[in-house]
Amino acid sequence: METTSTFIIEFQPRGIRLVCDESLTLLDAARRAGIPLRADCGGKGVCGKCRVQILSGVPVNVPTESEKKHISAGELENGFRLACERVIDRDAKVIIPNQSVLADQVLQVEGIDEEGDFQPVISQISARLEKADLQDLSSDSSRLRRDVGNPELEMDLSILRKLPERIREDNWNINVLERGNEVIRLVGEPLNPLTGLAVDVGSTKLASYLVDMENGKTLAALGAPNPQIAYGEDIMARLSYALQARDKADSLHNMTIAAINHSVVEMCAGIGISADSIAEVCLVGNTAMHHFFLNLPVSSLSVSPFVPVTGDPLDIRASDIGIGALPGARAFIPPVIAGFVGSDHLAFLLTAGLAENTGKISLGIDIGTNTEIALKKADRIVSVSTASGPAFEGAHIKYGMRAAPGAIEHVYIRDSKKIEIDVIGDTEPVGICGSGILDAVAQMRMSGLLNSRGRMVKESALIDTGKNGIPCLTLAEGAVPITLSQSDIDQVLLAKGAIRAGIDVLIDYLEVKTDEIDEVLIAGAFGSYMLPEHAVKIGMLPDIPLDCVHILGNAAGTGARLMLKSREYRQKAVELARKIEYLELTIYPDFPLFYARGIQA
Ligand code: FES
Repeated sequence: METTSTFIIEFQPRGIRLVCDESLTLLDAARRAGIPLRADCGGKGVCGKCRVQILSGVPVNVPTESEKKHISAGELENGFRLACERVIDRDAKVIIPNQSVLADQVLQVEGIDEEGDFQPVISQISARLEKADLQDLSSDSSRLRRDVGNPELEMDLSILRKLPERIREDNWNINVLERGNEVIRLVGEPLNPLTGLAVDVGSTKLASYLVDMENGKTLAALGAPNPQIAYGEDIMARLSYALQARDKADSLHNMTIAAINHSVVEMCAGIGISADSIAEVCLVGNTAMHHFFLNLPVSSLSVSPFVPVTGDPLDIRASDIGIGALPGARAFIPPVIAGFVGSDHLAFLLTAGLAENTGKISLGIDIGTNTEIALKKADRIVSVSTASGPAFEGAHIKYGMRAAPGAIEHVYIRDSKKIEIDVIGDTEPVGICGSGILDAVAQMRMSGLLNSRGRMVKESALIDTGKNGIPCLTLAEGAVPITLSQSDIDQVLLAKGAIRAGIDVLIDYLEVKTDEIDEVLIAGAFGSYMLPEHAVKIGMLPDIPLDCVHILGNAAGTGARLMLKSREYRQKAVELARKIEYLELTIYPDFPLFYARGIQA
């Protein structure tokens, strides 16, 4: 085919044709075409997840080193390549295999729903004002203060400009939205329901909730993928993308807000309300997400010592960051703790009850690519962040994937001879997700297929040493057999070792004995589906009684809702943030020893 000034890339089996006028990588082309191609490493040629099959248009005769590492010789021969390694400047035809596409994840939004008494953050007041006359020459604003019974009530210029007309157009009746001592909006009719929006902005998913601000009930909940994922599975990849140019940082901000607004529209349509009834917003997230949704510079987060721009709680106008809500709606942004410990951790600890004086020794663990762990003893709370990596989210595992239809979610090894699996959606398995990976490793350990050094026992009937001599376990046969290799197991042990090292450092630092721990509170999507006994079996958790372990679901989402609706919880969160001591693991004496011990199987 000839090189032309414009050229067309045809993506199959989706049948999408993209017209291009400049050379670009196949990964960028897929992004432009709106195809959610996996790019866990952000396009650095490291993860091997962006595999595509090139049918024509791109010379494929010399595979790159990275392609040789991630793609088998047979597949290389059939034109399989890494999309991020291939630059294209002419007409081409490319197949995107199913396994290279981000599947619809099982996006966890549920958590504990907290209702009951609370001090509302906003309220609406319907007032009938005394009409002005020659006996009562009070100003309109004084009249409003007097007649609603709040002498402290403040009104800014935008409210004062509308006040006289609003008072008089309905014969001195007025509806006011009051937030603290401030009027934030004059409304024609009372809002029904008066609604708030809480969002847990996770690195991989957005969990959004609409809440009735008068009774605290959750009206709607929706999970959606975080679109930033196309720019890298891990946070550092996204930070380095944002640092390339201001417009790239802006695009990460804009796509996040657009996805939140999209969720808002969908939830509002589902319950038959308008986004204009959303008068209050609360957003939480890890510190990078916090900076992205606020569109703060991220340069200080990207290099040691990884400090945030601000750790203060913020009260801003929702419109300042582009959230579609009632004009005048405010957003409460809870404080972040450190570069790698954000307001999602704070929200989790709030839900877990660590702001209360219970006298218990509590261990809180939010498992993710970065796992945040907190230990509370008496009136001290110490938090760490440990780089557990994305193995439990399916990355760095050859057939790893997120919890989505086709993912193996549970594995059972019967009598060391027979493997049984549960697959999400009861479909043909296409990969394995975190809970399945944890099960597989624990079951291998219990069945003697894995020794205490984390090595597969080659003599076992279920372990296949294959052509290349690398041991692996086949979990499912089929067109594409799903296997776990020794290098996959190594990744899992590194991930669980990082989590265990974080726990052990905290136990050491606060001089707690394992059997003194009263409760272990676990949050996060993977944490919700894992079996605690397996986490103990592989040594990810210390040997604790299983009835101490409580799974909280999306506790950050629950915490965001608590802070959205309740002044009391906002106050508790701000005090909790002040109280949390952040401990930097990498400079903790003997951390390498804790880590080395943690990765034992
Ligand atoms: S190897 Fe291409 S995105 Fe990771």
